[in-house]
Amino acid sequence: MKDKILVTGGTGYIGSHTVVELQNAGYDVVIIDNLSNSNIEVLDGIEAITGKRPVFVQGDCTDINTLRKLLEENPGIKGIINFAASKAVGESVQKPLLYYRNNLNTLVNLLDLMPEFGVKGIVFSSSCTVYGEPDVNPIDETAPIKPATSPYGNTKQISEEIIEDYIASGAPIKSIILRYFNPIGAHPSACIGELPLGVPQNLVPYLTQTAAGIRKELTVFGNDYNTPDGSCIRDYIDVVDLAKAHVIAMKRMLDNNDTDQVEIFNLGTGRGLSVLELIESFERATGVKVPHKIGPRRAGDIEKIWAAPKKANEVLGWVANVPVDETMKNAWAWQCKVSPKK
Ligand code: WQD
Repeated sequence: MKDKILVTGGTGYIGSHTVVELQNAGYDVVIIDNLSNSNIEVLDGIEAITGKRPVFVQGDCTDINTLRKLLEENPGIKGIINFAASKAVGESVQKPLLYYRNNLNTLVNLLDLMPEFGVKGIVFSSSCTVYGEPDVNPIDETAPIKPATSPYGNTKQISEEIIEDYIASGAPIKSIILRYFNPIGAHPSACIGELPLGVPQNLVPYLTQTAAGIRKELTVFGNDYNTPDGSCIRDYIDVVDLAKAHVIAMKRMLDNNDTDQVEIFNLGTGRGLSVLELIESFERATGVKVPHKIGPRRAGDIEKIWAAPKKANEVLGWVANVPVDETMKNAWAWQCKVSPKK
């Protein structure tokens, strides 16, 4: 029997896809989520894919008593994957205290309880945002951490420091920090996917909602950047590829006793794509046109960033496999499932 894993934020976008892959790998999963940015129906999608329904606790990880009760009532949890966090860059500028309280208190509570309940390790959901605007691309884990450009990005930087400091103080736990580039797409079954509340801030959900006729037109935020076609470049990584990396990291952390207590990995494809190239990929893959126009730059946007995933490829033995056109097909299938084309 594989170990029992606690997934905070497990009904969220990346969390739910990771729960599927954990269950496929034979782990028992307990989810805690306050459903502030996800729906409980996600559990049905997970069960439809894997045939197993994870244990679900509705609760807020910023309340240490809620977490303590969960760990008491679900003994034997060996690892944690912490997704529970607020993650909208723009919103974090408007509501910084919400971000610092939610993202940092959640992590401190989890770390505080781990030794008491024999939890061996925590996989932390970080972001390439910690690098700011890179001086060179592709970017590896040795790249300098620049001053955060948003409270959201700052919570990721501070969280990494909290983990490092706590372990350096002698805490008997391990951690693997995963710095994601741009997660996109949906599970090929179309049973789970991205469910942004309100107007999507991120490119792909806005793109698929435009293709579905929910949004009138996609605005490309600037085409006067110093890139081949003028639009920003990102490293778009399929969400299932990303989820699989978490399972590999968890296995490495729990099963290997000779690894460093803290390890950091960039998770990306190693390929940069521009906004316009992603639109082309979607149209090629689905045959559906995306009405779009060029608009002004969005404040705070980084011009170009993509990963050097060599360390994750060689040390974790993980490679991003899903071609971007396939990811676009899956994103479209999910959009059609949740909102049939008008
Ligand atoms: C991608 C590109 C936009 C919308 C952020 C966070 C990151 C992670 C992912 C949480 C940019 C352009 C977008 C639109 C557009 N968040 N765009 N029109 O900003 O790279 O990353 O979300 O984990 O930490 O920083 O992602 O999808 O918002 O933007 O032209 O309607 O698409 O300008 O170049 P971003 P994004």
